[in-house]
Amino acid sequence: MIRLIFLILVPTFFFHSFGQNINLKDISPFPIGTSVRIQPFLKDKKLVDLQKRHFNSITSGNDMKMYEIIKKEGVYYWDRIDTIVNYAKTNNQRMFGHNLIWHFSTPRWVRNKARENPAWLDKFLKEYITEYVSRYKGVIHGWDVVNEAFEASGGEYRKESIWYEIMGKEYIEKAFRYAHEVDPDAILFYNDFNIERDTSKLNSVLEMVSDFKKRGVPISGIGFQMHIRMDIPNEVIAYTLKKAADTGLQIHLSETDIIFNIHDDNKGGGVERYKELNEEMKLAQAKKYKDLVLMYRSIVPKEQQYGITFWGFNDRDTWIRRFFNMNDWPCLFDDNLNPKPAFYGFSQGLTSEL
Ligand code: G3I
Repeated sequence: MIRLIFLILVPTFFFHSFGQNINLKDISPFPIGTSVRIQPFLKDKKLVDLQKRHFNSITSGNDMKMYEIIKKEGVYYWDRIDTIVNYAKTNNQRMFGHNLIWHFSTPRWVRNKARENPAWLDKFLKEYITEYVSRYKGVIHGWDVVNEAFEASGGEYRKESIWYEIMGKEYIEKAFRYAHEVDPDAILFYNDFNIERDTSKLNSVLEMVSDFKKRGVPISGIGFQMHIRMDIPNEVIAYTLKKAADTGLQIHLSETDIIFNIHDDNKGGGVERYKELNEEMKLAQAKKYKDLVLMYRSIVPKEQQYGITFWGFNDRDTWIRRFFNMNDWPCLFDDNLNPKPAFYGFSQGLTSEL
């Protein structure tokens, strides 16, 4: 505790007293982003003001997924995407596209039609990606082309996916090729979770990346969702970042948050070991955020630092509470949108000498 006080509390006091005007995007050596749910977001002035002040990259938490865009064949719904794209342009923020292909957000009508007519799915894949990526060519800087194609743990390809069921793993490279054909300048990511802790899963992702690079499949980056827990050893995270960085690809911490409780990766699967957030926990989380940023900065070469994006930036709106049905405090800002020690720890990570 004493160590935490000096490592975090003293600098936090310094930042708090002298760093009142900390703007994360101004002190960061790489883009700092956050996800938003565009409709509730735009109605909340305090949230918008904070987002504009601290972030220069933005990701849609839900509105840019297939089940929100093409609810029936041939009918595309672009309004919400246009809204968030216009917000990003107006506020000079990088627009990141999440995501093109994800088993979870593939609409039922697509799954049904693919099972009736398997050959149709590849044609739909090409048409959907062509329609979507060409509409935002030169506007959306990078894409999570394929999200979570591997099982939650272990390293096998995810079997419960219409894409894998009908097309096998080839759907992944086809998605990358189709996206690159339309927008050769877009940065194309493979995005997944638990690869910062499950080395079997990471190794499977890296084997796929290596194979893609050998065969000229246009993959540009790896997205670590980075939904981590306080008890994941820094050494493990550092090891995985190093292995990914060694590919030479862009590395994006794409959905960052740090929780105290645990879960089984499934909806409602939370185990609430901590019922409330105390001062010691706040300081420990601040240190963890500082360590994470320092690892990212020191392990990933500068030219590969695509940036750090948070999956929501305040505890009140975090997906963790809704999805895992448990209380937790994963973000930099608290339920009242005030900066926590985690905010100052993260800031220290961005500015400390390496
Ligand atoms: O907007 C409707 C609302 O009108 C309706 O009343 C309500 C009833 O359930 O649903 C609302 O939509 C929900 C949407 O989030 C709103 O944000 C969907 O049901 C719900 O499934 C959806 O969950 C999103 C989830 O992905 C599935 O798409 C979460 O917000 C989003 O944070 C989460 O994000 C994922 C990343 O895409 C991939 N990595 C993991 C991450 C967390 O699960």
